[in-house]
Amino acid sequence: MTVILGLESSCDDSAAALVTADRRILAHAVVGQNKAHQPFGGVVPEIAARAHVEILPGLVRQVLDDAKTAIGEVDAIAATAGPGLIGGVMVALLTGKGLALAAGKPLIAVNHLEGHALSPRLVDPDLAFPYLLLLVSGGHCQLLEVRGVGDYRRLATTIDDAAGEAFDKAAKLLGLGYPGGPAIEQLARSGVSSAVSLPRPLLGSAEPHFSFAGLKSAVQRAVASGAHRPQDIAASFQQAVVDCLVDRTRVALRTSDAPTLVVAGGVAANQAIRLALAALADEHGRGFSVPPAWLCTDNAAMIAWAGAERLAAGLIDSLDAPARARWPLDSHADQVRGAGVKA
Ligand code: KG4
Ligand code: ZN
Repeated sequence: MTVILGLESSCDDSAAALVTADRRILAHAVVGQNKAHQPFGGVVPEIAARAHVEILPGLVRQVLDDAKTAIGEVDAIAATAGPGLIGGVMVALLTGKGLALAAGKPLIAVNHLEGHALSPRLVDPDLAFPYLLLLVSGGHCQLLEVRGVGDYRRLATTIDDAAGEAFDKAAKLLGLGYPGGPAIEQLARSGVSSAVSLPRPLLGSAEPHFSFAGLKSAVQRAVASGAHRPQDIAASFQQAVVDCLVDRTRVALRTSDAPTLVVAGGVAANQAIRLALAALADEHGRGFSVPPAWLCTDNAAMIAWAGAERLAAGLIDSLDAPARARWPLDSHADQVRGAGVKA
C-alpha cells in the first residue's frame, strides 16, 4: 500500500501525518501555537517560524512511531511549499527535502490551498470532480471550480479581508482570544443574531466576490457604542458572515453546473456556516460535502492526501522546488481590485 508522509507549517500549526492512497489515516499530529501568539492578537511570523523548527521534527518521529512505520516504508514525502508565512513554509519544505534526500524518496511540493481543496476527498470516496468549492480560511476566501488534481478555476475571491481574518478581527475587537473563529462561535450561541444591525458587503452584486472590511468596521462601532451585549454582537456578526457566504455562493452556483457544493478551510469548522451551505446546496439540487472540523483547520493529513493524489497523477517535484509566500491555485484568474494583498 502506498504511504505518504505529509508535513505542514505554513501558518501557526505544526503538523505531520501518514496517510495511505486508499484513504487510511495511519497517524496524524497537530501542535498549535495559540498561546505564543495570543498576547499579540494574531500570528507573529518569526515566532511561528522558530516554533516550527522546534516542533516539526518531533511530530515526524511521533507519527512514524504511532503508525509503527519506518521512514524507509514511506513511498513519498509531501510538504507544504506555500502559500503562507515564508519562514514557516520553509520549515516543512526543507524538512521534507531532507527526509526525501536521506531516504531516497520522491518529494511532492504541495500548495496548501490544494491541501484544503482536496481534503474532502480523503474522507468522502464518492466525491468526484468537478465540484464547486467554497474555500474559507484565515488567509483566503474563494469560490473555485475543482475540475481535477491541479486543475482549478477561480470564480471569485475577496476584495479585502478573508473570512477567517474577519472572525479574528471581530474577536479581537470583542476582547476574545486568538484564533477568533471558535471563540466567536462559542459566544454567539448565547446571543441574538438579529440584535445588532450589521452590513452585508456586496450582497446581491452580480459577481460572486467577497468583502468583509466594512463588516469589521461596523463591529468596531458596535463595540465602541457600548450599547450591545458582546454575545449579541458575536451572534449578529456570525449571521452577517453566513448571509454573505450564502449569497455569494448562490451567485456562483448559477455559473457552475458542478453537481456538488463543497466547503473547506478553517472557517468551514463553523457549525452555522456548515448548516447554511448544506441548506443552500439542497435548495439548488446539488450534493454537499464538508470534511470533519479537524480536517477543515490546518493539518498535515490534507497535505499527505494532496500528495497521494498528485503522486497518482505522476506529479512529483525536484529537490530545488521553491518555497512560495504567494501561490494562487488558478494562475490564470483575473486580478480583482484589492484582492491578493495577503498570502
Ligand atoms: O485553514 P486554517 O486553519 O488556516 C489557514 O490556512 O488560514 O484557518 C484558520 C482560520 C482562522 O481565521 C480561524 O479563526 C478560523 O479559520 N476558524 C473559524 C472556526 N475555526 C477556525 N472560523 C469560524 N468558526 C470556527 N469554528
Ligand atoms: Zn489553511
